[in-house]
Amino acid sequence: MDIVNDIAPELKKVFGVDRAPKATMLKMPKFGGHVARMTDFIEQMTSMLGFTENIVGAWQLVRKTGRLHVKVKFLEENQNQLEKNYFTIVTDYFVEQFIAYVSGQKEEPNPAPKEEDKKVRFAQNYSQQQINDVWRRFFTLVGNQFTESFEIERQKSLSSESKKTLDPHQHFKEEADKKKRIKERQSEIDTTQNENERGEDMFEDPF
Ligand code: HEM
Repeated sequence: MDIVNDIAPELKKVFGVDRAPKATMLKMPKFGGHVARMTDFIEQMTSMLGFTENIVGAWQLVRKTGRLHVKVKFLEENQNQLEKNYFTIVTDYFVEQFIAYVSGQKEEPNPAPKEEDKKVRFAQNYSQQQINDVWRRFFTLVGNQFTESFEIERQKSLSSESKKTLDPHQHFKEEADKKKRIKERQSEIDTTQNENERGEDMFEDPF
């Protein structure tokens, strides 16, 4: 909330809270939805890294979420590593403000009910300093991975855009190629399905 209010107020409009007072911001669907998604994201990431040790899964999730943000028009136009890197603005703020709560140095204002508190993400016999360092590394990595995967994805979409403008016939060729690829893939699927007829399970892509 402080981020959109004080640090980067230009984000208020993106989340539809430009006219909402701070107290009702979380009730606005776009903003509240994003807060919930961020919470889920952190929950999933910490559980994969610290609990199931699914490092590849965590890496895929952070890269995928970074890439998805290219669809956010505001970020596509304004995200900038030299002036305002919105991802690191968020993650730096988390490092500054959030770590004290998860490491137990500050009391949460609205603590979760006791039974929900039982999930232990990281072993307990670490020093305060070590816990802070792990969280700092976590948020720094998330910020850097977001920035990098976002940048690569934006570059990709920019280059396919400019191809269309510079070279319109390329557009038709791409369409034809795409259709061809889909057709080929379909026949691959058909063959695999035939091979799978004896009822072997296909693995679902987790993302
Ligand atoms: C480290 C910071 C951030 C995290 C962890 C984060 C996380 C997420 C997640 C998990 C989603 C859902 C993706 C999906 O569809 O699976 C999402 C969507 C989205 N994010 Fe972020 N985000 C961050 C920063 C930002 C920033 C700075 C903006 C500012 C414009 C932003 C704008 C959006 C929008 C507009 C969507 C789609 C709609 C929505 O779900 O509200 N995000 N974000």
